[in-house]
Amino acid sequence: MTLRDRVEQLARRAVSRGLRALRSVASAVRDRRRPDVSPSTPPPTAVDQPASAQAPSPFDRSDLVASYRWLAREGLTVLNEGPGIREYQPLYGVSEEDRARFPEPRRLVDERWQHIREHLPGSGSAMDVGSQHGWFTFKLAEHGLLALGIEGSSRAYQVAQWLTLYNDTKRTSFWQLTVDAESVRQLPAVDVVVCMAIFHHWVRVQGMEAATSIMQSLADRCRDRMFFETGQVGDTTSFDRSSIEVMGDNPREWIEGFLLGLGFSEVTEIAELSRSTRNDRKRYLMLATR
Ligand SMILES: C[S@@+](CC[C@H](N)C(=O)[O-])C[C@H]1O[C@@H](n2cnc3c(N)ncnc32)[C@H](O)[C@@H]1O
Repeated sequence: MTLRDRVEQLARRAVSRGLRALRSVASAVRDRRRPDVSPSTPPPTAVDQPASAQAPSPFDRSDLVASYRWLAREGLTVLNEGPGIREYQPLYGVSEEDRARFPEPRRLVDERWQHIREHLPGSGSAMDVGSQHGWFTFKLAEHGLLALGIEGSSRAYQVAQWLTLYNDTKRTSFWQLTVDAESVRQLPAVDVVVCMAIFHHWVRVQGMEAATSIMQSLADRCRDRMFFETGQVGDTTSFDRSSIEVMGDNPREWIEGFLLGLGFSEVTEIAELSRSTRNDRKRYLMLATR
């Protein structure tokens, strides 16, 4: 079978599984019962489900949560078999058993979160720009903030949506939006902005001027603090070469000056962390405060 045939076969399978899942939910809503499980997937049973996912009564709230989880697992599986879930952020809240179905994450999220958490207020609002699978957005909400994830990729956004259902998450929302110098002005003002590993994409795709304008708009919408990380000189091939040179040979100093220039009164380095499980080059995690 050629690669093209295989891709077509996967796409057909993904569509038919998706339709089957939707039909099942529609009939469950009609019959006011839990969805039937597709023939390819054994129904969740008391043996293979954690207690919280069991559904003793069809009209019980815990039954609905179990149904959501089942549906979300199906959705994520279909997505993974079709376009494929990227090996980047881990899938927040996914059980040990379900984790094996999905790609190995390579973003070192826990290390970053430890440092971010120490500098967060206990309440307020947050916006995670370039939220990918929403791992940091979910953590911000878990911490007590009302958290909004902004993501341009349809696939990454859909993963975050299915994870919202999987975890029955409160206090999160995701908007699918390609952030540019225009669209950024539609974003709300929040207490905390998380802007990690996206600035260099703006520079690469839209140029340094547009990237700076986006950052100025985000700074204007940031009432209290911003966490910032970017690709740095020498650590990424995806960073536009001419813009890399702007950073010179002291990226930390460049980032500090850049953030101060956006109107923050204090900028501090809170950590220097490896880029990913596969790339040990370090990047600064900076905190800019109003
Ligand atoms: C390298 S990942 C970083 C994800 C996350 N911020 C983190 O630190 O783990 C960059 C993310 O930004 C998204 N992205 C890139 N350009 C974007 C744009 N112009 N608007 C919105 N999202 C964008 C990508 O789809 C991707 O999910």
